[in-house]
Amino acid sequence: MDVIVINGGKALSGTVAASGSKNAALPLLFASLLAEGEHRFDNVPRLKDIDSTELLLNHLNCKTHRTGHQLAVTVKAPEDPVAPYEIVRKMRASILCLGPLLARYGKAKVSLPGGCAIGSRPINLHIEPLQQLGAHIEIENGYVIAEAKRLVGERIVFDFATVGGTENIMMAASLCRGTTVLENVAREPEIVDLACCLRGMGAQIEGEGTSVITIEGVNELKPAQHSVIPDRIEAGTLLLAAAITGGDVKVVQCVPADLHALINKLSDCGFEIETGPDWVQIKACHQWQSIDIDTAPHPGFPTDLQAQFMALMTQASGASVITEKIFENRFMHVQELARMGANISQETQVAVVHGNKGGLSGAPVMATDLRASACLILAGLATAGETVVSRIYHLDRGYENLETKLAGLGAQIERRSA
Ligand code: UD1
Repeated sequence: MDVIVINGGKALSGTVAASGSKNAALPLLFASLLAEGEHRFDNVPRLKDIDSTELLLNHLNCKTHRTGHQLAVTVKAPEDPVAPYEIVRKMRASILCLGPLLARYGKAKVSLPGGCAIGSRPINLHIEPLQQLGAHIEIENGYVIAEAKRLVGERIVFDFATVGGTENIMMAASLCRGTTVLENVAREPEIVDLACCLRGMGAQIEGEGTSVITIEGVNELKPAQHSVIPDRIEAGTLLLAAAITGGDVKVVQCVPADLHALINKLSDCGFEIETGPDWVQIKACHQWQSIDIDTAPHPGFPTDLQAQFMALMTQASGASVITEKIFENRFMHVQELARMGANISQETQVAVVHGNKGGLSGAPVMATDLRASACLILAGLATAGETVVSRIYHLDRGYENLETKLAGLGAQIERRSA
């Protein structure tokens, strides 16, 4: 199994481009199930989660063909619209095929994804809204079994602004009879991208990016031609990598507005940030201080950058209170950072990081989830010794060539087969 080896302590500098967004690409690829024919997606990142999505689409009778960052998906009616456990267990986002399959083919059988390292992650906010749209749903032998002759539009109020739940119901409602009004929905940029793609397919959607989305169902959609938005979490991770090394880095091909919460926090710490239409530059800075963060749904501070921000706070002057409000168990990196010498006290969903510039030392550490892997790499970049990050298959799920991008900015980092 591969490991990432880092000899840190070097300030990063240069220009790096963000890849396409993983979290936008996944629902877009599942949206293809809403229309038979040839779809084309551009700016699709090369990631394990995209491979898993292709595998599931192939299982559902779709053909996929990749050319660089372009992915063509040819959709044909599946003989049996089943998403099996063997594929779903590799990637929770597979649940996003439920809404499209049900809306398009009147039935779907999708394995329950189960919990994951960062929390229990139920899917009640996917299931209940589909029931409100008229689906008959049962849970049997670890599978969600859903049926509906034709879904019918309804007013649905989400208990929580779930990203995946909003996406699943947006896709299903696009083929409903009548009008669906979704309230308290997620407002993430990935939701806006999905609405944009669905609209290109002929869906009638309004309100994406606000907390109310209205969808006028249509009888049929046409194949998508869509380019995936840049990955704001990857771009944010690269900015934090620059910050933690006192570097000067320009991240291009990104959307600065999507990084607003992170840019604000970095500015409040004392970092100098400049932005252009599609770039963000962080300037070398050695005098900066700690700040507190609470994770929250967009436009709040993203939970997907919490671990990487915590790595930065280990190098701050002062203490930082980090409150994780989205997932109940998303602090598994705390123990690994502690193995590198970080001083962090944690109780349930609050961690207090006592910053100490230069206080980390290289160590063998283990990635526990996707964003924790990035956190440990950032911590490694901040120490002069050798850090070896294992279990990096988590990293490969969601970052395209992160080590190559960091090496391009001057980091001493390499992938080795262990
Ligand atoms: C998506 C992102 C993930 C990000 C998360 C929050 C993708 C592929 N993944 O995950 O990277 O960390 O948003 O920004 O886009 N919940 C329920 N019931 C449900 C669904 C969710 O209680 O049916 C809870 C979850 O347990 C969690 C919270 O709602 O505590 C947020 O989850 P959600 O927004 O749905 O996250 P995902 O879509 O799974």
